[in-house]
Amino acid sequence: MQQLALRWKRVGVKIGFVPTMGYLHDGHLSLVREARKRLGKKGMIVVSIYVNPTQFAPTEDLSKYPRDLKRDLQMCRAEGVDVVFTPDDAEMYPRWGEAADKPARGDARPTGYSTYVIEEKLGRVMEGAARPVHFRGVTTVVAKLFNLVQPDVAVFGQKDFQQAAVVKRMAGDLNFPVKIVVAPTRREPDGLAMSSRNKYLAGDLRRQARVLWRAMQAAQAAVKQSNSVPAAKLKANLKKLIESEPAARLDYVEFFEPETLAPVAQVTRGAQMALAVFVGKTRLIDNIRL
Ligand code: PAJ
Repeated sequence: MQQLALRWKRVGVKIGFVPTMGYLHDGHLSLVREARKRLGKKGMIVVSIYVNPTQFAPTEDLSKYPRDLKRDLQMCRAEGVDVVFTPDDAEMYPRWGEAADKPARGDARPTGYSTYVIEEKLGRVMEGAARPVHFRGVTTVVAKLFNLVQPDVAVFGQKDFQQAAVVKRMAGDLNFPVKIVVAPTRREPDGLAMSSRNKYLAGDLRRQARVLWRAMQAAQAAVKQSNSVPAAKLKANLKKLIESEPAARLDYVEFFEPETLAPVAQVTRGAQMALAVFVGKTRLIDNIRL
C-alpha cells in the first residue's frame, strides 16, 4: 500500500482516504462521496477495512464485530473507490502474535507489539473515560494508516464526534501533512444514526434504539424554549426519558464546547451534546449540535 501511494505521489496524484472497520453502510459511503468531491475525478480514493484490535478492550465485541468483506467490496466498487486496503493483524502490528512476558501499559492483551500514539487531553473524557484503551488504539491505527496510505485528505464521520476531534488533534500535533474533513451523520428515516452495530438490534430493540434520537430532540426543544438550561437538570430529565425504554440504560450524556470538549454547566445554543446508551447489550453513541 505504501509503495503504491508513494508512486502516486511522485506523479502528483492526490489521495483521499476513508478508514473504516468494514460492514459498510451508507454513512461510510457518504464519506467516500465527500472524499471524491474534494479530490475530483483524477484523485485516488482509498478505503481501508480493518477491525483494529487495539481499540477494543478485551471484554468488548472484537471477535463478534460484524464482517462481510464480499459485500463491502461490491459497495466500494459501485461507489468508484480505487483501492480497498484490507491489512491483517500481522501486517498492521509487527510481532503482534508473539507472546510478551508483560503486556504493554494499559493493555490487557499480551502482544510483542509495543509502539502507541496517545492523545492526552481530548481523549480522556466521555468515550475515553468509558473505554480506557479505546482512543490509544484509534490514534495508533490511524497514524499507522496515514503512514501507509499517505493521504492528502482523510474523511471522518461526525457520528463519532470525539474520535474526529482526537484524530484532528493528533494529526495537527504530529504534523501529518493531511487535511482532516468531518462529514455529517447519516441517519435512518426514524433518526437512528447508521452504524455497523445496529445489526445487533434484534426485534423490539431496534424500536427502542430510537430513544437516542428522541433524547437529542428533547434537548434541542429544551434549549430552544428557555435559551439556557442547567446541564445537571437536563441530564436528569434525559436519563428518565431514555430509561423509560425497558432495554435502554444511559451510560453518559454530556454537554460541552464543540472545539475543546470542555463541559458546560449551562446548556445554550451551539453547545454540543453527546450520549452513549446501552440498548440491550449493544452500546450506541450519537451526538448533535444544539
Ligand atoms: P467505523 O466505525 O467503521 O467508522 C468509519 C468511519 O465512518 C468513521 O469516521 C465514522 O465516524 C464514520 N461513520 C460511521 N457511521 C456513520 C454515519 N452514520 N454517518 C456518517 N459517518 C459515519 O470509526 C471507525 O470505524 C474506527 O475507529 C477507525 C477510524 C476506522 C479506526 O479503526
